Amino acid sequence: MAWSPAHIPDQSGRTALITGASGGIGLETARVLADRGAHVLLACRNVGRGRAAAARIGGSTEVVRLDLACLDSVREASAWVHARHERLDLLVNNAGVMFPPYRRTEDGFEAHFGVNHLGHFALTGLLLDLMTAVPGSRIVTVASLTHRAGLGALDEGGARSSAGRRSLTAYGRSKLANLLFARELHHRLATAGAATASFAAHPGLSPTGLWQGDVPRLLRPVAGAGLRWLAQPADRAAWPALSAATDPHVPGGAYLGPSQFFESRGTPAPARSSRVSRDVAAQHRLWQLSEGLTGVRYAFPSARAEAESSGAVCPVTGARG
Ligand SMILES: NC(=O)c1ccc[n+]([C@@H]2O[C@H](COP(=O)([O-])OP(=O)(O)OC[C@H]3O[C@@H](n4cnc5c(N)ncnc54)[C@H](OP(=O)(O)O)[C@@H]3O)[C@@H](O)[C@H]2O)c1
Repeated sequence: MAWSPAHIPDQSGRTALITGASGGIGLETARVLADRGAHVLLACRNVGRGRAAAARIGGSTEVVRLDLACLDSVREASAWVHARHERLDLLVNNAGVMFPPYRRTEDGFEAHFGVNHLGHFALTGLLLDLMTAVPGSRIVTVASLTHRAGLGALDEGGARSSAGRRSLTAYGRSKLANLLFARELHHRLATAGAATASFAAHPGLSPTGLWQGDVPRLLRPVAGAGLRWLAQPADRAAWPALSAATDPHVPGGAYLGPSQFFESRGTPAPARSSRVSRDVAAQHRLWQLSEGLTGVRYAFPSARAEAESSGAVCPVTGARG
């Protein structure tokens, strides 16, 4: 039988953090998890919008300020979570921008790459110590069909470029980075014997705020009639991420998306991905680039154990390198 939120097991006692939960697919993801009993942290750049979303959702929620376009804000959000929570069961890296009004993030990174990938890379590394010992904990990173448009090098020049504001290639590159990251993270977690698994999911197409950016002329037909024909509402578009976050039958490392109309809509199923997204060397290179650019170095359980036994203890995982 096809998956639906009715299959989600009781989430009571679990804590989930969703980035970009103030609207669109993130709000719907948060709504379902709260409805199933999870305590949900809505990580939002605009706290007012986050509180309004929390009021609409009901259930047990908190709002944490998080601007992924600013690494200081990412560190503050991580400190906020650490001050209030001893464990995290679910992290959904959902927030995203497409054709935003600014070229670069506060740290000087190309806007798509900085928000969609580097901000999430830093956040995940900084929160990882709350997850790796929690049985069944999961990290879900939201990618896109457009990862296939992510042409060009994923290197420091591209990461700092100012040329991507209205570029589908730049958006696609950030979504390719989401997929490469989720896979490399899964490999590293599994190698370290962590209790956490990493997944990727894409929502297909959905007429959310994402399409209200400065869409280039060539893409306007897709943003107009195309969306009306092919898209699914945000509550359905949240299903692949929800399935990845909660379905015990989905194996770690999986990539889910909608199953119909070229993966634009439908119930969740294993998704197809480009050859480069499966390139192990590219996954490894992106990881090193991301650590260098964000200053966040992941410390996996085995690395921590080694450091402790050698006396070189570094108790704060993911600390600024
Ligand atoms: N909709 C689609 O057709 C589609 C297709 C493929 C993939 N996706 C992916 O799905 C995810 C959710 O997008 P959506 O469609 O739900 O878009 P959306 O309605 O525009 O929601 C995006 C969310 O991200 C938040 N956000 C933007 N910049 C941020 C920042 N700097 N720091 C923290 N949060 C930030 C927004 O917060 P504000 O409320 O402050 O703006 C909003 O809550 C994205 O990763 C997107 O790439 C969407």
